[in-house]
Amino acid sequence: MAEILIIVGTESGNAQMVADYLSDELSPLGHAFDIMNDGDADEARLAERGVVLVCTATHGDGELPDNLIPFHDSLTAARPDLSHLRYGVIALGDQTYADTFCNAGRNFDTLLNELGAQKVGERLEIDACTQPLPDEDALEWAKEWVEML
Ligand SMILES: Cc1cc2nc3c(=O)[nH]c(=O)nc-3n(C[C@H](O)[C@H](O)[C@H](O)COP(=O)(O)O)c2cc1C
Repeated sequence: MAEILIIVGTESGNAQMVADYLSDELSPLGHAFDIMNDGDADEARLAERGVVLVCTATHGDGELPDNLIPFHDSLTAARPDLSHLRYGVIALGDQTYADTFCNAGRNFDTLLNELGAQKVGERLEIDACTQPLPDEDALEWAKEWVEML
């Protein structure tokens, strides 16, 4: 059973809803979740963690949601060694934004990889146009993901 920190990037609540749903549905299976969405996070909070799940929307023109920018900036500036960390990414986006589809999730994936963290499974990308139930898609993916941890 895993202790998982979900790092949420959201502006209108979809990614938060997904994170809350995963926590509610998977906690009874014995996994423990903390959800971080406060925006004042710094990279030190990853030092004591073993597993993180980034769950982020993309906003603007392929930008991170505002609440995730301080944390991303903190990681980019400090460039900590995250080789102790395993991670997964759920990226929420919209194919209408063809050139920047799921960019925030993709960028966070790249950053964690550059810092030495080990990705577990493939990144899930959820298209708001074709996937009206992001929480259900995410749960299906996450059930397999936690088995790989
Ligand atoms: C103003 C605006 C800009 C957006 N820009 C992008 C984008 O560049 N790429 C993308 O894949 N999705 C984009 N989206 C779609 C959101 O990522 C998608 O609707 C997501 O589900 C929102 O999640 P949230 O409620 O957690 O913020 C944009 C949405 C809005 C409202």
